Amino acid sequence: MDLKGKVAVITGGGSGIGRAVCRKLASEEVQAVGVVDLNDEIFTVCEEGNREQGRDIFFPFCGDVTNSEFREKVFASLEGQHGPVSLCVPAAGITLDRLSVKVNSKGDQPTMDLYSEESFHRVIDVDLIAPVYWAMRTIASVGVDRAKRGLKQWSPEESMQGAIVLVGSVSSAGNRGQISYATAKAGLEGAQATLAKEAVFYGMRCAIIHPGFTDTPMVRAMGDDLVSNYILPNTQLGRLIRPDEIAGAICFMLKNSAVSGSLWADAGWHPSA
Ligand SMILES: NC(=O)c1ccc[n+]([C@@H]2O[C@H](COP(=O)([O-])OP(=O)(O)OC[C@H]3O[C@@H](n4cnc5c(N)ncnc54)[C@H](O)[C@@H]3O)[C@@H](O)[C@H]2O)c1
Repeated sequence: MDLKGKVAVITGGGSGIGRAVCRKLASEEVQAVGVVDLNDEIFTVCEEGNREQGRDIFFPFCGDVTNSEFREKVFASLEGQHGPVSLCVPAAGITLDRLSVKVNSKGDQPTMDLYSEESFHRVIDVDLIAPVYWAMRTIASVGVDRAKRGLKQWSPEESMQGAIVLVGSVSSAGNRGQISYATAKAGLEGAQATLAKEAVFYGMRCAIIHPGFTDTPMVRAMGDDLVSNYILPNTQLGRLIRPDEIAGAICFMLKNSAVSGSLWADAGWHPSA
């Protein structure tokens, strides 16, 4: 599928993997990219990107991906100015890591301390429910445009209309200290498999990438000691993955119409026991 001229929405576009995906999409000559992030640095990121490209391609939208009114405003604006949104990489994500169960055995009465429900809800909202809704809204964007043009069910004689790549994680296979994050990322597998089956009615594909540890602020926040002592020894590459390597894989998945499942881009990482 040629990405040239298409309209994309990338959440978490202000940093790390999302930002690298925006750059890759510019090199594919997409028409417009809605760059969504909580961080207002996206205004500078978009301004610099537009200057580099010599045209207005990046359009910043600062807000919270879990807010459905904000999501609707982003889509209405992109659709109104550029047409249906047919590419989506909902990459905004957070971690709120902690061991799921802690038992303090000091004193006569051992005490228990479970992972906070509030943190669990927030991670599920941001990392699972939000990306699925941004993906569903993208499918709807294409579906409504087709309906306006009198088109119903997509047929293989037509070209593919668009694609979504959800951003999972190697942690979806289980990782100590990441009960909420691993649950959210594993949940995306079920969402991808379901959306892939439903979205083809409108000529859309949905796939999922599971990146390994990638050199972004999210991973750097874990601290250099943790990265060198616990992550790098468990990878085959012996280094963090570069954001542009993950962005290259995502772009391939968006473009290649045979891709409909999951890709593990994990640098040979395996979780320790
Ligand atoms: N870095 C890794 O090793 C790695 C590995 C596997 C998966 N991932 C996933 O890749 C995606 C991107 O992560 P990254 O490593 O680039 O992290 P990052 O922290 O560099 O970027 C995440 C971006 O999401 C934005 N964001 C967070 N919550 C938001 C919200 N509620 N609304 C709007 N924006 C919000 C942040 O402001 C930030 O700019 C995430 O989904 C993450 O879970 C990362």
